[in-house]
Amino acid sequence: QATGGRPVQAIAQPVAGATASPTLTIVYGSQTGNARRLAEKLAAQSEAAGASVRLLRADAYPTRELKDERQLYIVISTQGEGDPPDDAIGLVDFIRGRRAPKLPELKFAVLGLGDSSYPQFCEIGRVLDARLAELGASRLFERGDADLDIDSVATPWMARAVEAAKALAKASPAHSATVTPLRPLAAPAAAFDRDRPFRAELLAGHALSAPGGLRTPRGRDVRHFELSLEESGLHYEPGDALGIWPENPPALVQGVLDVLGLDGDQAVDVADESRPLREWLGGRRELTRLSRPFLAAHAERTGDAALRELLEPDGREALARLFDEQQVIDLLQRHPARWDGPALVEALRPMTPRLYSIASSQKHAGDEVHLTVAHVEYAVDGQSRWGAASDFLARAAEGDRVPVYIEPNERFRLPADPSRDIIMVGPGTGVAPFRAFVQERAITGASGRNWLFFGNPHFRTDFLYQLEWQRALRDGHLERIDLAFSRDQAHKVYVQHRLREQGREVYARLEEGAHFYVCGAIGMGKDVHAALLDVIVEHGARSAADAEDYLARLQQQGRYARDVY
Ligand code: 2AM
Repeated sequence: QATGGRPVQAIAQPVAGATASPTLTIVYGSQTGNARRLAEKLAAQSEAAGASVRLLRADAYPTRELKDERQLYIVISTQGEGDPPDDAIGLVDFIRGRRAPKLPELKFAVLGLGDSSYPQFCEIGRVLDARLAELGASRLFERGDADLDIDSVATPWMARAVEAAKALAKASPAHSATVTPLRPLAAPAAAFDRDRPFRAELLAGHALSAPGGLRTPRGRDVRHFELSLEESGLHYEPGDALGIWPENPPALVQGVLDVLGLDGDQAVDVADESRPLREWLGGRRELTRLSRPFLAAHAERTGDAALRELLEPDGREALARLFDEQQVIDLLQRHPARWDGPALVEALRPMTPRLYSIASSQKHAGDEVHLTVAHVEYAVDGQSRWGAASDFLARAAEGDRVPVYIEPNERFRLPADPSRDIIMVGPGTGVAPFRAFVQERAITGASGRNWLFFGNPHFRTDFLYQLEWQRALRDGHLERIDLAFSRDQAHKVYVQHRLREQGREVYARLEEGAHFYVCGAIGMGKDVHAALLDVIVEHGARSAADAEDYLARLQQQGRYARDVY
């Protein structure tokens, strides 16, 4: 089992002694939970259609069984730059690699998830789909490449998949007699989830970074929020994330209405829902993030050749920059075009919840859940722009309600064995889950040593939770903290520099069974990974390839876990 010893809820396994294999295998690779959610739904629907199904997270899939599969569905996301989700790294490598078996008997279908604002959109789904065919398997129906408005592609794909599962069930009538029932496919549904969020009361919010601190172009004003889960029945583990459904800033909604000369009170009917345009734009459509489909639709309306060129392969870099630097309103202001309410709502991407790594342990915080949030704020053409969720929280007053749900992260778990050491690398807001880890290990009396690497621009203004760490050090709940304040000296000092400096001790602890965690920005995660490889090469006297294997093994054992965004 890959994670810290707790059973993985969504993995169904035939009870020992089962003779026939299930007729259908569904494998998912998921970073933020969307692929998992779809795979679970698909499994339930396929079962209801009469198929016997096993549902596996990719890192629990026994690759030697691939050659015996008859029907296989893969639901898998692609991360920013064309990478697989962490839980699918091994499986994707295996299928891509030379050791993959010929699969003449296999029928398969792939649903890819991704974000079309990245050039490598749905790359992993595409690669697997092509490779399975190359191995001789036959494609049941065309691959789906789902963008952030997942359902428009996923729903028809799922319908075909369930049809094919039904056909399969009919063709193999013996299965129900020979296969022992599977464990339930998913945990019993919580009263509140992504689609039915709990309206959590905001109990408190305060600044963590001191005023006068650095304002990068993307503001780094970091805040601590406390929300109440009282009466929700919601439960979370250290490592889990809190999903938040934000409302766009009202001033931004009004700005969009004004630019287009539209009336916010106008009723707009889209997809069987009727509500005022202002409501659509407030909480149901993305305004703070542009999308490729919206840009394409807008380019069409303006007839602007420069916009259309951004959508060509040559425009990739400029497009990525545009998505990074501008919001919907900026595009509307700079490239005017006429829109009516219904067309606008149809073209904009549906709102997606934002995930924040939870900064508290429920054993410590009781009914509360704590977050560490950087207020995203920047200027375009001299006008302020904000991130949807961080500004939503910043605007909220104590007593306001915030729609939330728990997004489990089974791959980011404390060791099941409390005597294991842990090493945590969490610069910036990446420190959040480690506050939860340290709280949890303190309250459960875990005897393993807790070592934290933290970094941020300045000691004086950006030492998040400084007092808490000092107290934890004093009380022995934190054995050690190594700090990298990047801008307190002439040259940059980052957490990976500290990690290299402490390489001998880091390696010694890994050899003794320590678990290693990284949370924070993607670029940092890559640099820390490289530093860790160097540490293993240097202090383990291994080749670069052996160091890679070493880390891959740790990852498989759930001893090297990353939560990067
Ligand atoms: P900087 O802003 O001075 O470059 C949290 O954002 C901290 O991570 C900051 O101190 C930031 O430093 C630092 N940081 C930026 N890029 C990084 C990287 N690639 N690896 C590690 N830390 C990084």
